[in-house]
Amino acid sequence: ELKILAARTAVDELVARGRIRSGMKLGLGTGSTAMPAVRRIGELIADGTLSGICAVATSFQTTIACENLGIPVYSMNSRQIGGSLDLAIDGADEISPEKHLIKGGGAALLLEKIVAYNSAEFVVVADGSKAVSSLGTKFALPVEIIPEARISVAAALKKLGADAVLREGVRKAGPVVTDNGNLILDCLWASPVQADEMEYEINRITGVVENGFFTRILPSVWIAREDGTIDRR
Ligand code: A5P
Repeated sequence: ELKILAARTAVDELVARGRIRSGMKLGLGTGSTAMPAVRRIGELIADGTLSGICAVATSFQTTIACENLGIPVYSMNSRQIGGSLDLAIDGADEISPEKHLIKGGGAALLLEKIVAYNSAEFVVVADGSKAVSSLGTKFALPVEIIPEARISVAAALKKLGADAVLREGVRKAGPVVTDNGNLILDCLWASPVQADEMEYEINRITGVVENGFFTRILPSVWIAREDGTIDRR
């Protein structure tokens, strides 16, 4: 319920302030908080408040939701999108005080980051449990890797102080395979890490495709608290 509150409040306020407008190119995130935002945008398209929206979905989950809601979906490479977006809206697994994020709990971090980092504005919606004091020790950082580099990347992550565990499927035998055909290593540290430095260092490892630290675009954040208030950062 708090996730729905954050998502719907953010979309309605962004529309009221003209930050989401007809004709915009929107990036649509993945997960249980992004989904009510996608649904709200679908409602606003259906009732005629928004028209001419071109969306990019960050996962199969979101693509299917858009199909069901009648939201037109395009590739980042399409003529309509041209590789950049006006605004992206998404959830997060953890949000630090400086608004650095961990994302990828749903294994969609690669497309989520391509979309977020190529958007003029990035909006994050969350419930209060996602706001934390530091990153790296509680929610494991997802790192998307090329399957052939599983062992070598895990060893390189160890040198960066991380304990990396291959993500296993739920109701599926064997590892989770991402929407892009890769694997996920979930990484925990014994003490908090500097997310912006670690985002850079992890991506220098051969065989890493992307990691779930998001530090290079400062999001606007809507957090729904237990008492029903919204914390806007
Ligand atoms: C998907 O890969 C993630 O980045 C999600 O945005 C993140 O895990 C938040 O998910 P929930 O909104 O379901 O908690």
